Parts: sequence; structure tokens; C-alpha cells
Amino acid sequence: MNAGRVEREELIQKSALWAQDQEYIDCVRDILENKVFQSMDQFIQHGHTTCKDHCIQVSYIAYQMCKNRGWDSRSAARAGLLHDLFLYDWHTHARETGEHFHGFTHPRVAMENAVRYFQIPEKEQNMILRHMWPLTPVPPRYKEGYTILYADKLCGLTEFGAHIKAWFLVALWPKQMG
Ligand SMILES: [Fe+2]
Ligand SMILES: [Fe+2]
Repeated sequence: MNAGRVEREELIQKSALWAQDQEYIDCVRDILENKVFQSMDQFIQHGHTTCKDHCIQVSYIAYQMCKNRGWDSRSAARAGLLHDLFLYDWHTHARETGEHFHGFTHPRVAMENAVRYFQIPEKEQNMILRHMWPLTPVPPRYKEGYTILYADKLCGLTEFGAHIKAWFLVALWPKQMG
């Protein structure tokens, strides 16, 4: 089995263990304990997974990917937690507001909420704003942003209950990851 596939399988297996990782918790405690962040527990992301749980999983996978490479894992952990902080139920959002482009617009809404409630720096703002690339046209400015992209797609597929085949994971693996 190649090294990339071993890492991907380890990331999925380890993603449930975030609460036991004190170094990770130390990077994100203020966000985890914040009421605005916790309010994402009332919104379903995919299947039975809440937005809050989805964001924690994306955050922890992106954190580990960055740690494995000696990259800025703290920024990845924090931007991952906030990447979907749009704070509405996207299943009913279009019907209630007439706004039908959640997939394209929610990164900016999440970034603005993250700035408003957590005063995050420019690097983390960019990681959140660009997390839907290539659906949105501009790619992330920082290499750590690609870990959020990948972790988000991986978690989305898992939440849908899709049977994830190795070839599909290989196809999604960003070339920036090596
Ligand atoms: Fe998103
Ligand atoms: Fe997401």
C-alpha cells in the first residue's frame, strides 16, 4: 500500500479521537467552548451529522495533515472548526430566503461570522473563504488551505454514507499534498 493511502486511512480512523488529543484541544479550546460555535449543534450538515460535529472532524483531519508535514497545524485546526460557521439550516435556507446558491455563498458568510465572533487573522480567513474551491473559482492562498479542502470533501462523502473507493480518494488527493 502506498504512503498516501496509509495516511488517508489513518486520518479517517483517528478522526474520532480528537477529544483525547490535548495538544489539539490547546489550539482550539476557546472556540470549542464558545456558545456561537456550539450553536452549530442545532443544524444538520449531512445525514445525521450536525454542523458542529462536521466542523470538528474537518478541523482534526486538517490539523493532523498539517502536523504530518510540519505545516501550520494550529491555523488549520482553527479554520477547520469555523469553515462552515454560516449559522443557518441550509436544507430550508433557500425556501425561507430565496437564496439558492448556498454552495457558493456560504464560505463568505462563514468567514464573516468567524471574524465577527472570533477575530481570526487573514490566513485563517482565506482558508475559510476558499474552502469550496474548485466549485468557487479562486484557490486557497496558503498550503494549509488545501488540507481543509480535502478534509471537508472526505468528511462530506463519509457523512453521505457513500462507499468510498480507493480510486476516488486518490483522485481527490490534492497534488499540493505530495
Ligand atoms: Fe462548506
Ligand atoms: Fe464543510
